[in-house]
Amino acid sequence: MLAGRRVVLGVTGGVAAYKAAYLARRLMERGAAVRVVMTESATEFLGPHTLAAITGTRPVVDLFDADDVSPHTTLGRWADAVVIAPATAATLARIANGLAEDAVSATVLATTAPVVIAPAMHTEMWQHPATVANVEKLESFGYHIVQPESGALAAGDVGIGRLADPDLIAGAVAGVLPGGPLIGVEVLITAGGTREPIDHVRYLGNHSSGKMGNAIAAEAARRGAHVTLITAGPGIDHPRVTVVPVETAADMAEAAWSAAVDADVAVMAAAVADFRPANAVDGKLRRSDGPPTIDLEPTPDVLAGIAEMEDRPFLVGFAAETGALDEAIAKARRKGVDLLVANDVTAPGSGFGTETNQVTVVLPDGSTDPWSLMPKSEVAERLWDRIAELRKREGTSN
Ligand code: CTP
Repeated sequence: MLAGRRVVLGVTGGVAAYKAAYLARRLMERGAAVRVVMTESATEFLGPHTLAAITGTRPVVDLFDADDVSPHTTLGRWADAVVIAPATAATLARIANGLAEDAVSATVLATTAPVVIAPAMHTEMWQHPATVANVEKLESFGYHIVQPESGALAAGDVGIGRLADPDLIAGAVAGVLPGGPLIGVEVLITAGGTREPIDHVRYLGNHSSGKMGNAIAAEAARRGAHVTLITAGPGIDHPRVTVVPVETAADMAEAAWSAAVDADVAVMAAAVADFRPANAVDGKLRRSDGPPTIDLEPTPDVLAGIAEMEDRPFLVGFAAETGALDEAIAKARRKGVDLLVANDVTAPGSGFGTETNQVTVVLPDGSTDPWSLMPKSEVAERLWDRIAELRKREGTSN
């Protein structure tokens, strides 16, 4: 039920913190990847090493953690859902008032993912008007509160305020996650035109704007996928899209080959330079030195590297052509892709920098499906429909 979902578990300082270890397990048993963020006081009740051993990653406790310059925003963006369990009265107050004073409240403020809060505290604290008002406020933010139960509390007390059962909390997390046909699917997209340095100020480039790749990334994220967008262009801002900015074909290859290991689908929409200056000049070439001779050498073929991978993702290539489809059909076979999107960049309204595109989908069996001129966002929609159809035929579950 939580397969492929990313859950950030926030643990704050109360005796019920030990139950967070059970919750982490319950979430993982349901298929979620779990990362933990704790307050300093939570570590008094439950050792971070316990949660590290369960989840496989070290909990974030300190916002000034040397490994990451901004751990709360990293976690907030990574999360498909954030769950705080147990949440103390102080934590409720901090989050209700936007006080990002510790790693847990800062992470909640830094996320756009749904938030589940499971409070635990003594009865008097739970029923205090300040806590009641804070809970109402948190509900008004759209946060889901898992009500505490009645039972044994700290220091031998009994009453309402005991943390809800971890299974119930895990169920609440599953309940707040948005659905979509690409939920749990890892997508890798390359976009934009690479720039290959000639000297410190000049480069060899092309006219690609990155708009087609961005539209494909936005549509995948809208359908629920986690997207890694490796781009030499401007990128997009979406909570489920991780943008990896690159400049050169070599940078793009390195980033794409490492991301492809985890990808289910890879869409190579980038216009990658096929050649780069063999000896880029460190400083600036001078006019007074006369016209330079620039020797070129081949760049790595990003797509080919993925096509050769043993357990490769479903692979979509692009082909910017300037005439008949023959070359695109040959390319679909030669490149080892599952689908090739060919476009005639010389056709009006099509190709580089435009908001629209006219493409032909080419399959390795040589079949072609020409689509009419349409906005790039619509090309992206139809492309994901087509990918879904082909993956289903292959027997891929999602
Ligand atoms: N591609 C790539 N790395 C390269 C060159 C191309 O990943 N170094 C990818 C593109 O992103 C695209 C596909 O390969 O998805 C086809 O690109 P294209 O330039 O049309 O193919 P080439 O093999 O370079 O063919 P040609 O230059 O002969 O048209």
